[in-house]
Amino acid sequence: MNRKKRYVQVGIGGRARFFYQAVAERFSDTSEITAFCDLNRTRLEYAQKTLVEDFGYHEVALYSANEFEKMIEEQKPDCVIVTSIDRTHHKYIIKAMEMGCDVITEKPMTTDNEKCQQILDAVKRTGKNLRVSFNYRYAPQHSKVRELIMSGVIGEVKSVHFEWMLNTSHGADYFRRWHRDKRNSGGLLVHKSTHHFDLVNFWLGTQPKQVFAYGDLLFYGRENAENRGVDKFYSRVHGSENAKGDPFALVMEGVPNLEGLYLNAEKDDGYIRDQSVFGDGISIEDTMNVLVRYENGAIMSYSLTAYSPKEGYRVVFTGTKGRLEAEASEVTYVNGSGDKDLEGATKEKSIKVYPMFGIPYDVEIPTAKGGHGGGDPVLLNDIFGTPEPDPLERAASHVAGAMSILTGIAANKSIATGRPVDIKDLVTF
Ligand SMILES: NC(=O)c1ccc[n+]([C@@H]2O[C@H](COP(=O)([O-])OP(=O)(O)OC[C@H]3O[C@@H](n4cnc5c(N)ncnc54)[C@H](O)[C@@H]3O)[C@@H](O)[C@H]2O)c1
Repeated sequence: MNRKKRYVQVGIGGRARFFYQAVAERFSDTSEITAFCDLNRTRLEYAQKTLVEDFGYHEVALYSANEFEKMIEEQKPDCVIVTSIDRTHHKYIIKAMEMGCDVITEKPMTTDNEKCQQILDAVKRTGKNLRVSFNYRYAPQHSKVRELIMSGVIGEVKSVHFEWMLNTSHGADYFRRWHRDKRNSGGLLVHKSTHHFDLVNFWLGTQPKQVFAYGDLLFYGRENAENRGVDKFYSRVHGSENAKGDPFALVMEGVPNLEGLYLNAEKDDGYIRDQSVFGDGISIEDTMNVLVRYENGAIMSYSLTAYSPKEGYRVVFTGTKGRLEAEASEVTYVNGSGDKDLEGATKEKSIKVYPMFGIPYDVEIPTAKGGHGGGDPVLLNDIFGTPEPDPLERAASHVAGAMSILTGIAANKSIATGRPVDIKDLVTF
């Protein structure tokens, strides 16, 4: 019998259980998780309790963040799973590879081009394998779009028009916690759009070449609220009279997962999960528009808003033989609240093809159960199980990880300078 693959995981917050639950419940024949590492002791212990009591798994060793190397020396994992906050990814990816491990990292691979270069150099130096878990690629409607474009139904794609809407629940959540500081997340053009820019690279089978962008904070933040006439403010929801009745307030009391992961844990590190979205100190944008020229000559206009009444997207491709429209409205959830299966679950979705001079037709989209429209279980099998050969080539390497963030990183630079940015000037592969 083959030896089980040994995993350890760093960053044990809301997203982490996606991976450890899968190992515990579905893939214990092929995989074993042996340790958790995090800055926050309470969160480590809460995850341990969840792992043992809810998922029936054995206890794992717990290490603090400054014991990361000790964890690798003692546990001797084959692979490290990185699910800490974005700005720390590069540190753990590089150290893990230098100590002989492969790595699976959550998106975004990292937050800026300097850290991206350090990761690319470490992959080259160590020869280790780095994989970015792009779950969106695996959602059935996204896989279907790839299949249709690859089959040539609309010919060569020349133009892409892509609008993504984050609503006042999901979108607002990025303004309540660490993401609101651009140094932590790279802003939504990196943190969130990495999914969308990866999809475009994957759908078109190409890479970005040049980027121009505008972006601003036009809805969240204290000043915008003041300008709309709001006169009652608070810094966080817990214990605040002013927060009562605010539809943007996140109430953690009474939601076991939010209490266990964040409210009870804040005494360790001061991480406040329920900050007001109309507070000071927000350095990310909520309104972003980006133009991208691709290596294959295609051009994209992309927009992202984070305060829409509706959640979902609309993407339109125009090619040499026709037009393809894909739309989805999504069910939203609060990250870390335990509603895992709602994550990216699609309410309505459609794909329509308009052949040039032909009759338009709807394309049937396969249905699947699980997070991100059924993409998550397939991705997990790809990572921890026995993957089938995949003609769509959905597994994403460090190159795809880098390419997906470089559009957003270039967009951030363009917003700062008012000029177009060439991708080739950001990193060398
Ligand atoms: N693919 C997806 O759909 C998806 C969804 C949600 C989150 N994510 C990604 O997962 C990662 C974690 O996000 P989350 O929502 O779980 O955030 P979270 O705030 O719930 O958890 C982050 C964890 O990182 C820990 N941490 C912070 N600094 C650290 C350090 N220096 N060393 C070790 N641990 C540290 C925190 O203590 C916390 O436990 C992010 O990179 C995010 O982009 C991906």
